[in-house]
Amino acid sequence: MYVFKDFYRNTVQLSFEKHPFSLTPKHVWVICRYQNQWLLTNHQDRGYEFPGGKVEPLENPEEAASREVKEETGATIKKLTYVGQYKVLGREKVIVKNIYFAEIAKIEEQDTYYETKGPILLKRLPKDIAKNRQYSFIMKDSVLKMTLEKLKQDGLIE
Ligand code: GTP
Repeated sequence: MYVFKDFYRNTVQLSFEKHPFSLTPKHVWVICRYQNQWLLTNHQDRGYEFPGGKVEPLENPEEAASREVKEETGATIKKLTYVGQYKVLGREKVIVKNIYFAEIAKIEEQDTYYETKGPILLKRLPKDIAKNRQYSFIMKDSVLKMTLEKLKQDGLIE
């Protein structure tokens, strides 16, 4: 397990084991890849981030991952792979989030992108995300960096 601080100095625990913190996580985050590009969403308040959100009642985390990706980007997932889980010890509450890797089949324009401005496709993620105001705070701690390294190790990305 890895332990570090996030952008807001909250403690984060990250692990690439199977569901180390909760069997019923209430949040999901999905690293999306489409035609050799990264697929992100532009959140109205937070900025650029990989899509994700809360698991709704009656949903399992995989269903939430598919729904959030569709709502926030218009994308349909071809293959969804569990990567890991993290726990954020916030001031008010503790949240547990599953991390997935998604290969995207197609992106269709939507009438609404909910609390986001829709899809963003990028050839490369910038090196300065931590200092880049265009990017969401959820992209700014070691979860992203370590997850990308793990995806590389597992041969899911180059
Ligand atoms: P509502 O219940 O809709 O009001 O949501 P909320 O604004 O309380 O946020 P949420 O339950 O999604 O998350 C609670 C807190 O956890 C946030 O304020 C963040 O500080 C933190 N948090 C949520 N997601 C992440 C994440 O991916 N990374 C980090 N580092 N912190 C997160």
